[in-house]
Amino acid sequence: MFPVFTDDQIAIRDAARDFAMSEIDPGAAARDASGEFPQAILKQLGEMGFLGMTVPEAYGGAGVDFLSYILALEQVAYADASVAVTMSVNNSVACAPILAFGTEAQKQTYLKPLASGDVLGGFMLTEPDAGSDAAALKTRATKVDGGWRLNGAKAWITNGGVGRYFVTMARTDPDKGKKGISAFILDADQAGVVMGRPEEKMGLRSSKTVMVALEDAFVPEDAMLGKPGDGLKVAFGGLDGGRIGIAAQALGIAQRAMDESLAYAKARISFGKPIGEHQMIQTYLAEMEAHLQAARLLVYRAAALKEAGKACTVEAATAKLFTTESAVWICDRAVQIHGGYGYSREYLVERLYRDVRVTTIYEGTSEIQRMVIARELLK
Ligand code: CAA
Repeated sequence: MFPVFTDDQIAIRDAARDFAMSEIDPGAAARDASGEFPQAILKQLGEMGFLGMTVPEAYGGAGVDFLSYILALEQVAYADASVAVTMSVNNSVACAPILAFGTEAQKQTYLKPLASGDVLGGFMLTEPDAGSDAAALKTRATKVDGGWRLNGAKAWITNGGVGRYFVTMARTDPDKGKKGISAFILDADQAGVVMGRPEEKMGLRSSKTVMVALEDAFVPEDAMLGKPGDGLKVAFGGLDGGRIGIAAQALGIAQRAMDESLAYAKARISFGKPIGEHQMIQTYLAEMEAHLQAARLLVYRAAALKEAGKACTVEAATAKLFTTESAVWICDRAVQIHGGYGYSREYLVERLYRDVRVTTIYEGTSEIQRMVIARELLK
C-alpha cells in the first residue's frame, strides 16, 4: 500500500504537528488580523532544521528526505498557511537551487545561513510584466569589474523585506533570448535592492510579499548560480520541487477546512438534528474527503519520485493542479457548511478560504500547470 512511511518520516510529521498546534496555531488568527511577521516562530523552525530540511547537515540543514519535508510542511500549513509559505520558499526555491547548482564556496557562504535559519531567502523570477511567461523577464545584469550590476523590477517577492539571499534571474545577454538569462544569488542587504511596502493581500497576511526595485544592485563574480544562460533551468528546476511544496501547503489548509467542517456538522443543529445528519451536508463532506484522499496520494507520490531522483515535472504539476484546485473547492464548501458563520472572521474557515485562494496562482497558475503537463505528455 502507498504510501508507507518510515519511522523517521512519521517522527518528523508528528514533531511538526506538535509544534504547529502548540506554537503556530494559537497566534495565527491574531497575526492574520495584524499582518505581523512571525519572526520568533521562524527562528524556532530554523532551530528545528525546518528551513533547510533536505539540505545536508554539512551545509546547515537537517539532511532529511523530500517526503519528510512535505509531511512537515503540510502540518505547518494546517496551523498557519502564512508560516508554511515562508518555510516553503526558503526550502524549495532558495536552498534547493543553491544546493543543486551552487559551488562549494556558494554553499558555504549562502546555503549554510539559509538552511540553518540564520537568514531567510527567496526567489526573484517574476516581474510586473513577466509572470506566467517567465522568459519575458527584462531585468538586466550588466558585467562590471568584479561582478554584475542588476537593474529592473521584481514583483510578488515572498520574504522580501524579511529575507537576505534571493535566487534572482536576470538577462545577461539580450540577444540570446531564453538562453540569455542567468541566475544569481543576490544579497538584498545593499542600497541597490529597494524593497517596496508589503502587498495588501487577500490572504497569507502575515507572510511578506513585496515589489523590489533593483537599482545597480551588485552581485560579485562568484555569486552567479550555474553557468551563464542557465537561468531558466535553475528557475524551473527549483519550481518542480516548489510546486510539490505548494501542493502540500494546499493539502494542509484543505485538511483543516475538512476537520473544521466535520466538527461544525456535528455541533450545529437545524431542523431538529445536527446538520451532519442531513444528506446534502453529507454529500459535501464525502466529496471533500474524496478530493483530499486523492490529492494526498498525488502529493506524496510526486515527493517520493523527487526523492528517488526521478523526473517529476509532470507529477509535480499534476499534484499542484489537482490539490490546489481541490483545496480551493474544499474551503469554499467548508464556508458553505458553516453558513453565515463561515462568512465571519470569528470562524477559522473564513481565513482558510482567503489563504487557500493563492495556491492556484503562485508557483505557476493552474493554467500553467496544465500547459506543463500537456507539453511533457506530447513530447
Ligand atoms: N526542470 C529543469 N529545466 C527545465 C524545466 C524543468 N522542469 N522546464 C524547462 N526547463 C528548461 C528547458 O529545458 C529549457 O532549457 P534548454 O533550452 O537548455 O533545454 C529552459 O528551461 C527553458 O524552458 P522552456 O523553453 O520550456 O521555457 P518556456 O518559456 O516555454 O516556459 C513555462 C514556459 C513552463 C510556462 C514557464 O514559463 C513557467 O513555468 N511559467 C510559470 C512561472 C512560475 O511558475 N512562476 C512562479 C514564480 S515563483 C513563486 O511564485 C514563488 C513564491 O513566492 C511563492
